[in-house]
Amino acid sequence: MNIFLQHNPTKLYFGKNQITKLSQELASYHKQVNVLLVYGGGSIKRNGVYDEVKAELQSINAVVHELSGVEPNPRLTTVARGVDICKKENIDFLLAVGGGSVIDCTKAIAAGAVYEGNTWDLITRKKEITDALPFGTVLTLAATGSEMNSTSVITNWETKEKLGWTSSHVFPLFSILDPAYTFSVPRDQTVYGIVDSMSHALEHYFHRTENTPMIDGFIESLLRTAVQEGPKLLKDLTSYKYRETMMYISTTAFNGSLANGTDGGDWATHRIEHALSAVYDIPHGGGLAILFPNWLEHVLKEDPSRVKQLAVNVFGIDPAGKSDEETAMEGAKALRTFWNDLGAPNSLRDYDIDDREFDAIVEKTFVKPGVGTYKELDYASVRDILERSK
Ligand code: NZQ
Ligand code: ZN
Repeated sequence: MNIFLQHNPTKLYFGKNQITKLSQELASYHKQVNVLLVYGGGSIKRNGVYDEVKAELQSINAVVHELSGVEPNPRLTTVARGVDICKKENIDFLLAVGGGSVIDCTKAIAAGAVYEGNTWDLITRKKEITDALPFGTVLTLAATGSEMNSTSVITNWETKEKLGWTSSHVFPLFSILDPAYTFSVPRDQTVYGIVDSMSHALEHYFHRTENTPMIDGFIESLLRTAVQEGPKLLKDLTSYKYRETMMYISTTAFNGSLANGTDGGDWATHRIEHALSAVYDIPHGGGLAILFPNWLEHVLKEDPSRVKQLAVNVFGIDPAGKSDEETAMEGAKALRTFWNDLGAPNSLRDYDIDDREFDAIVEKTFVKPGVGTYKELDYASVRDILERSK
């Protein structure tokens, strides 16, 4: 194992009716808090979450401003609107109510609100982030893990760049996770959430650190649970027990705990997906469902050992009488089949994407140097993964 520091300051409230903790948290934090409530395209108004949040805020006489309309794959222009409100209204606390996009947008607003220049400078790391406004989250979609990490992904649609960034200043102060708030998540978004969570576990799994049996077994257990329980959830979208399992999986898959003692994992597939969805505005989980099995097939040609371990320990494939490469190949196929059976896309054609923009996607993948650690990819490798995904 590598030396590591585990420090995640986000306070997590998990379970039924935990929204009542919202007023307690804010009351202990501020006398009369001036809140910017950030949300998306209106799902929280249709499922009643908005009313519950507003009632909590009213109970402590909070002053509430709103930023609505945060788009899936949140855009810099929306971040800029939020930053303007914060500066004009002297906002002292941000509250994100939604999925990963709303939370990511809130993180960027929190950092941008205490910076004089364009928030893009912070996202591109042209300027260092030294502070941010405090914020909390109420999660409504189990997928990204953004509710308990310090990562955010923002799209600059003008330059067609979608960049992930991270700062210790943008951990949520608290996050409220009531699985019942995800009952209304439609089937396709539920599938994308399962794919994204499993992809985060997979990215962590593909590391090069020796002697990590505990963390490897933990990741395998998380993946096996998703494989067992995911299909049950899709048959019963308002099942509390399946929703709570998926919610706990998605938060755990990307809150730092799966990186303890390892080099942190590979993350090349995420880099390619972000480049892909910077060019084509497709759902993150959909892009991953297409790319990940092809990444596995690409890497197993050189070294099948880890994909074989995944095949055996997660998908129960019997390696007897097979070469390592054959077993690994069956594992990659099992993952693809599992996701396709859930209803996730299988190839870029499913989004009407052909190879016209492959050069641009490859370029954008390398917007930051170093793509992948388990296997560092070059331009030709990324191109190969895209070709396999056609
Ligand atoms: O906008 P509203 O009306 O809220 O509708 C949303 C949106 O249309 C809807 N939704 C959310 N909760 C709902 C609901 N509909 C009904 N009932 C509910 N309870 O779902 C749609 C998708 O929401 P979005 O927030 O975009 O999905 P997700 O949570 O998957 O977030 C995706 C974004 O997160 C980034 C992705 O790249 C993408 O931009 N990621 C962020 C990460 C992070 N911060 O750590 C890591 C990930 O790898 C990922 O890259
Ligand atoms: Zn992801």
